[in-house]
Amino acid sequence: MIASEFHSITFVGPSTSAYLIVRRPCLSALTGCFDAVSNAARERDCRRPVLSETPISDSGQFLIDYSPSWSSIKMRIGFIGAGKMAQALARGLINSGRIGAENIIASSPKRDYQFIDQCKTLGLTTTHDNSEVVHKSDVIVLAVKPIHVSKVTSEIAPALSREQLVVSIALGITIRNIESLLPTKSRVVRVMPNTPAVVRAGASAFAMGSACRDGDAEIVKDLLSTVGFAVEVPEVQIDPVTGLSGSGPSYMFAAIEGLADGGVKVGLPRDLAIKLAAHTLYGAAKMVLETGVHPAQLKDDVQSPGGSSIYGMHKLETGGLKGILIDAVEAATNRSRATGDKALPRDFRNAEMEKKIEEEKTASNPNNQLL
Ligand SMILES: NC(=O)c1ccc[n+]([C@@H]2O[C@H](COP(=O)([O-])OP(=O)(O)OC[C@H]3O[C@@H](n4cnc5c(N)ncnc54)[C@H](OP(=O)(O)O)[C@@H]3O)[C@@H](O)[C@H]2O)c1
Repeated sequence: MIASEFHSITFVGPSTSAYLIVRRPCLSALTGCFDAVSNAARERDCRRPVLSETPISDSGQFLIDYSPSWSSIKMRIGFIGAGKMAQALARGLINSGRIGAENIIASSPKRDYQFIDQCKTLGLTTTHDNSEVVHKSDVIVLAVKPIHVSKVTSEIAPALSREQLVVSIALGITIRNIESLLPTKSRVVRVMPNTPAVVRAGASAFAMGSACRDGDAEIVKDLLSTVGFAVEVPEVQIDPVTGLSGSGPSYMFAAIEGLADGGVKVGLPRDLAIKLAAHTLYGAAKMVLETGVHPAQLKDDVQSPGGSSIYGMHKLETGGLKGILIDAVEAATNRSRATGDKALPRDFRNAEMEKKIEEEKTASNPNNQLL
């Protein structure tokens, strides 16, 4: 019975995706045997089938997405740009054991022989040809500086198919801008990772593009989860995420250095001071995450009346610690917004930001004098 109901079903998609396309008349029958489809999917290590909510064509075709869970397939990852962040992510993926180095390729210009050598040491395939990365990858990560995004996207666009997922980690460049530089309906995801991905303690947020399919968010989340915490957010939050967790490791490295300097000043050996400072930040973060208690409460709990902690805290607050952290996150967020826009050719810039830049120019030069 199931076989006859499935008569009008078409299988589409390559190794990373599998869909059933069904016509409306057999939809009700399919709903009846949805559990059977689910069982079949489970046997094939696929995720639970998801029925598209709207028809995918005028003739009333619906999609049932039962793509294999990505753990069951050999996903190939390609990095365009083989620099610090690409290597951090590649290292994290390899260390997680979920993606073998043989399934990762990275490209960089010839002048970047040092990055290429480092990637080779990691066991990655390397190339100077960005289109080779596209040909050999299911997920293509744009890991170049924002200024290089438009050049790179124009290079890869002819080789790109809709079966591939483009993941951009470039600072400030919006999904809309990347989509407009690639073939229509390209599946684009914008991610803001951070460097602790290298030790699989990263924090990444991602936003999905307009042509992404059901299940793409799951693929990206699974991928990023191998290198730490990963969460989907609306795109409007990606610049603030950049200001907080994207740039945050540098603030925390400075905090560790400062605490260690303090330790040295009061007589601790440097090595021990650095270890104690790092473990202190690590432990405090772990307590926040594992207890779920508000950090203000945890802070109060440490400060006994007249004890040493409240004396130290007084000094930090006199220096405006929390205010400075807030300023840092805000400044980095604004920098991310401005960088993305400046990095793109004029036609692709955010109209709102253009207006703001013009207003700022006019405000600083009200009579429009030649400077
Ligand atoms: N580092 C972080 O903590 C962090 C965190 C989150 C997001 N990000 C974002 O991640 C992206 C990469 O940052 P990164 O720190 O890894 O930078 P990076 O170390 O400078 O790496 C970027 C690499 O891309 C190369 N490149 C330039 N043009 C290219 C082209 N046409 N084709 C292929 N490769 C090309 C660069 O070569 P050249 O140096 O020779 O130009 C460089 O080796 C940036 O957009 C950044 O905003 C970074």
